[in-house]
Amino acid sequence: MKVLMVCLGNICRSPIAEGILQHLSDSQGLGWQVDSAGTSGWHQGEAPDGRSQQVAAKYGIDISQQKSRKFTVADFDQFDLIFAMDTSNFNDILKLARNPEDRSKVSMILEQTNLGMNRSVPDPYYEGGFEGVYAMLFEACNAIVEEYQLKAQQH
Ligand code: 4NP
Repeated sequence: MKVLMVCLGNICRSPIAEGILQHLSDSQGLGWQVDSAGTSGWHQGEAPDGRSQQVAAKYGIDISQQKSRKFTVADFDQFDLIFAMDTSNFNDILKLARNPEDRSKVSMILEQTNLGMNRSVPDPYYEGGFEGVYAMLFEACNAIVEEYQLKAQQH
């Protein structure tokens, strides 16, 4: 499974999501490839925000080597699943979709834990709240593993 996590800057939320899901895959031997990107290129080449690095490190996950990059249309070809952190990320990604197959790969990450509620992961860049963001993403990433491991076993 190849999974892409997407937020606006690719320095706060999606790096945490990438770190958690890659850690779950590695520790369970799933062999998944996880990456993250931003709908903007504003922080291209930068490491994750120090506050994201800190909260991830607190739970044993090192995201310090990640580098921000911008989402591109080629990501629809590279990844099986694309998770948006909020509705504006979701809409920005869908604007780039070329066909129904591209569109079918994209969903809101919190649909994994709050189905039908269209919930967004709050942007912590100005407001803070990194602990809460981590907790939501941890639950959502566990749900992703559960759902797609189950599907893989059924095939
Ligand atoms: P992220 O957070 O989308 O979770 O990486 C943000 C990072 C930077 C900005 C906004 C949100 N910014 O305005 O630069």
